[in-house]
Amino acid sequence: MDILTIAPILRMLLKRDSHYPIIRWAADKSTQNSDSLNIPLPKNATVDDVIRVITKAVENVACEFKYVNVQDMGVFEVIYPSTISRRVSGKIVLVTGGAQGFGLEIARALVAQGAYIVLTDINIEQAHREASDLNDAYGKNSSLAVTMDVTNSTSVRQAIAATINYYGGLDVLISNAGVLKAESVKTQPEKDFDLVTAVNYKGYYLCVRAVAPVLALQHRVDETYMSDIIQINSKSGLQGSNRNFAYAGGKFGGIGLTQSFALELIEDGIKVNSVCPGNYFDGPLWSDPENGLFVQYLRTGKVPGAKTIEDVRRAYEQKVPMKRGCRAEDVMTAIYYLIEQCYETGQAIAVTGGQVMLH
Ligand SMILES: NC(=O)c1ccc[n+]([C@@H]2O[C@H](COP(=O)([O-])OP(=O)(O)OC[C@H]3O[C@@H](n4cnc5c(N)ncnc54)[C@H](O)[C@@H]3O)[C@@H](O)[C@H]2O)c1
Repeated sequence: MDILTIAPILRMLLKRDSHYPIIRWAADKSTQNSDSLNIPLPKNATVDDVIRVITKAVENVACEFKYVNVQDMGVFEVIYPSTISRRVSGKIVLVTGGAQGFGLEIARALVAQGAYIVLTDINIEQAHREASDLNDAYGKNSSLAVTMDVTNSTSVRQAIAATINYYGGLDVLISNAGVLKAESVKTQPEKDFDLVTAVNYKGYYLCVRAVAPVLALQHRVDETYMSDIIQINSKSGLQGSNRNFAYAGGKFGGIGLTQSFALELIEDGIKVNSVCPGNYFDGPLWSDPENGLFVQYLRTGKVPGAKTIEDVRRAYEQKVPMKRGCRAEDVMTAIYYLIEQCYETGQAIAVTGGQVMLH
């Protein structure tokens, strides 16, 4: 039996006033009987044994405790979230590619609504800076930055382990990391196709493979508990994208993964859905002053007659029935819907201002 199994079980069984606590592995902590709950664990205990023993220990406890001392393993700290109830209070959310763009905006919105956020990215310096800002603004346990390359299964596994060690479980995966390399099929190098596919398509699978056992274990402990996997897809996952086939192909494939994961994982109480935003013109992908798509399209003359970045932007806004780009708050509306509802899975929700209409 290991920490990665014990901590999520403890977290589920120590629920109080409909909130789950954080369970933090406290390797060097020595405790006194007065402030800790002692759990005697039989040798070679199975998962069912552990659930049974902890259930019994929790039932019999008479006083408040700050620590749980698991025999032959060590000490876990128990931290309950603030009693102020907000939209996602106490939920542990892991965001991939969370250092900037949509991922960061999603993290900021969720932490303001009471979630604990694990900001993962290959750009760990930026993730650390952003997590530290979130902790300054919302309290020291609000956010954790962890290195994660979604194309590398070892890196993904290590990031999930770091999450469980620090927070004791996970409730929502936001699979957001994505890259775009747009080019004609006649010229795009194979390595660019491989990179886009590895991050946008295989990366989603690797993350789901690593988190699903944790989410399933939590449901096994408490069968009323449901969790969420939300993939940030794209309008290019719903209709083809000219000279952008690697991106569109991977995103279409992502919807196939979402539907298939949803069918399999609902028995574990896991809802799996995709959100398909339209173009996020205010984000760095489009608006970065050096490498953003607006600058690139101006330089390459992609929009006939455009003389300034504003001309390019306006041309793209005109393609949207609602005449503006997608914003982070539009995506958040879809994310809150997916987390709060408990009768939908396997869906792809378009958030495109009417640019893509489903049939
Ligand atoms: N920007 C848009 O217009 C738009 C529209 C629809 C959907 N999306 C989707 O939203 C998601 C986020 O896009 P964005 O525009 O915010 O992108 P972005 O480029 O601003 O941010 C992406 C983040 O992912 C990280 N990343 C890249 N490769 C990674 C890897 N291998 N492992 C972990 N992290 C990695 C980057 O370091 C970066 O922090 C993507 O899945 C994208 O396809 C974007």
